[in-house]
Amino acid sequence: FQSNALDGVNVVITAGPTREAIDPVRYISNHSSGKMGFALAQAAVEAGASVTLIAGPVALVSPERVKRIDVDSAEQMHQAAMDSLANCDMFIGAAAVADYRPAQIVEQKIKKSADSMSIELVRNPDIIAAVASHPQRPFTIGFAAETQDVISYAKGKLAKKKLDLIIANDVSDSEIGFNSDNNAVTVIWNGGEKAMALASKQQLSRCLLSEIAEKYKNSRAT
Ligand code: C5P
Repeated sequence: FQSNALDGVNVVITAGPTREAIDPVRYISNHSSGKMGFALAQAAVEAGASVTLIAGPVALVSPERVKRIDVDSAEQMHQAAMDSLANCDMFIGAAAVADYRPAQIVEQKIKKSADSMSIELVRNPDIIAAVASHPQRPFTIGFAAETQDVISYAKGKLAKKKLDLIIANDVSDSEIGFNSDNNAVTVIWNGGEKAMALASKQQLSRCLLSEIAEKYKNSRAT
């Protein structure tokens, strides 16, 4: 791991879940802890990068020398990501963005009455796809958390979202992914892939960042 691999590179990382409000006291969210995104932010700082971390609601302390922007909802994360592009060479989407949000946020707390109720949901913006198709497109890296056919779904997302790299993560195994302190992944790009063995999210982030830095440099050279 080279301590200058990302010298002078502006890196933006999204991390954690998003929260989609139903009413003033309730929301829809997921189990993302933010650990992977925060570990990547730390490793990117160690590699010499200037790091902006766009964080959903997580119970984690920011790594030193990271500029942190706290957001709640996918729409806020989307806005923060778009605003960051003016000064972004590399974008890593590690957040578990909610795919849907309630169509309306009810103004007052919803009272219980009927035996059943339903909430209409609408699609959230795909943040990383918007980043990768932006005119000021940075080198863009996504994650694919899957419970089956991990590699083939990840390859589909690499193409569909127009990413440079995707990090495939099998979350059917509770030893890795989401709330775990450890992870094992496969890095996939157009034309190749590389498996990375089970390690702590800190160690794995250093391996990922050196792979990412190499691919980033090659993309600049061509
Ligand atoms: O489509 P899926 O959610 O599996 O894609 C995962 C990748 O896309 C991750 O990098 C995630 O951060 C990103 N994503 C996003 N905005 C969304 C959904 C996913 O940036 N609305």
